[in-house]
Amino acid sequence: MSSAEDLQFTILPHPNPTSPEKRAELMANPAFGRIATDHMVLIRYKEGEGWHDAQVLPRGPLTLDPSAAVLHYAQEIFEGMKAFRTADNGIAIFRPDANARRFRSSADRMAMPLIPENLFIRAVDELVKADQDWVPSGENASLYIRPFMFANDAFLGVKPASEYMFLVIAAPVGAYFSAGAVTVWVSETYTRAAPGGTGAAKCGGNYAGSLLAQAEAKDHECDQVVFLDAVHHRFIEEMGGMNIFFVFNDGSISTPALTGTILPGITRDSILTIAREKGLTVREEPYAIDQLLEDAQSGRLVETFACGTAAAISPIGVVRTKNGEVKIGNRDGAGPVTESLREVLLGTQRGRVADTHGWEHRVL
Ligand code: COI
Repeated sequence: MSSAEDLQFTILPHPNPTSPEKRAELMANPAFGRIATDHMVLIRYKEGEGWHDAQVLPRGPLTLDPSAAVLHYAQEIFEGMKAFRTADNGIAIFRPDANARRFRSSADRMAMPLIPENLFIRAVDELVKADQDWVPSGENASLYIRPFMFANDAFLGVKPASEYMFLVIAAPVGAYFSAGAVTVWVSETYTRAAPGGTGAAKCGGNYAGSLLAQAEAKDHECDQVVFLDAVHHRFIEEMGGMNIFFVFNDGSISTPALTGTILPGITRDSILTIAREKGLTVREEPYAIDQLLEDAQSGRLVETFACGTAAAISPIGVVRTKNGEVKIGNRDGAGPVTESLREVLLGTQRGRVADTHGWEHRVL
């Protein structure tokens, strides 16, 4: 048996790939995550055998036994990452090593096997190469890549599974939100993660638990929900699928610290780095909702934005709670600090800004 590090991929090209005309039509205005590229990657894991049977194959349905552990006990994790068309018509993936590391720490929390970083990155590269024609160009367009892994044991006992499937799929995407600032709802009904729980892992269950809170936000005509901490019901944590940042009138920025209940966002980490390099004072600290409401009214809080792989950086214009709402910074779009951070982030991703951090992983 070869080691997972040098596992070779069997490439099974799609016998009937999407025609260039059809692909152009699908990519013209893609709804987030609705479009399937032609291929997927599949690697199997079995206790005692390790990682084996690495394949790039035509994208299609999976066959699972109805007792497959994931369907009952939700042993599942995923990642979100993007490949971009660069200025010289190449393809680069943004910080795949960071996704690989986070995937391993999510796996660890969910008692799943740890895929080697190098195998994770090679799997993603193989899919992007096979589906390279699906990487769009254009300012807000990219190929969204979704690696995931789930427990595949046909067994109803509650224990860590001994068989897993690791897959990578992809979808061409445009902007996650339509232009302008989003309105967020602060839920006082639901919490996302408690100390000691799975909040820092990118596991499907965290997202399932956020859906009713997101529906509550929609009921209040908001785009997204903001969660408060589960202990004091006071401190802002994150938005379920995105981290959150605050910009103050003294030029400083803050975001909630990674205390184990918040997803350690890669966009979050990139923004902290970019902000420090711009000379901004950066704090990772708790921020209470009552303080936010007061600071928005006094003018101390001047900008707020959400960030994540899918959404990149999205300005938040209004924060709504059951007791009323505040408008942040009195504007509809992004404020100057949000805009300047976004320019460096998006510019680095698309090769317009020099990549001084080694964040760009060139595939082609
Ligand atoms: C991402 O930003 O990649 C996410 O995971 C958020 C969401 C689409 C689940």
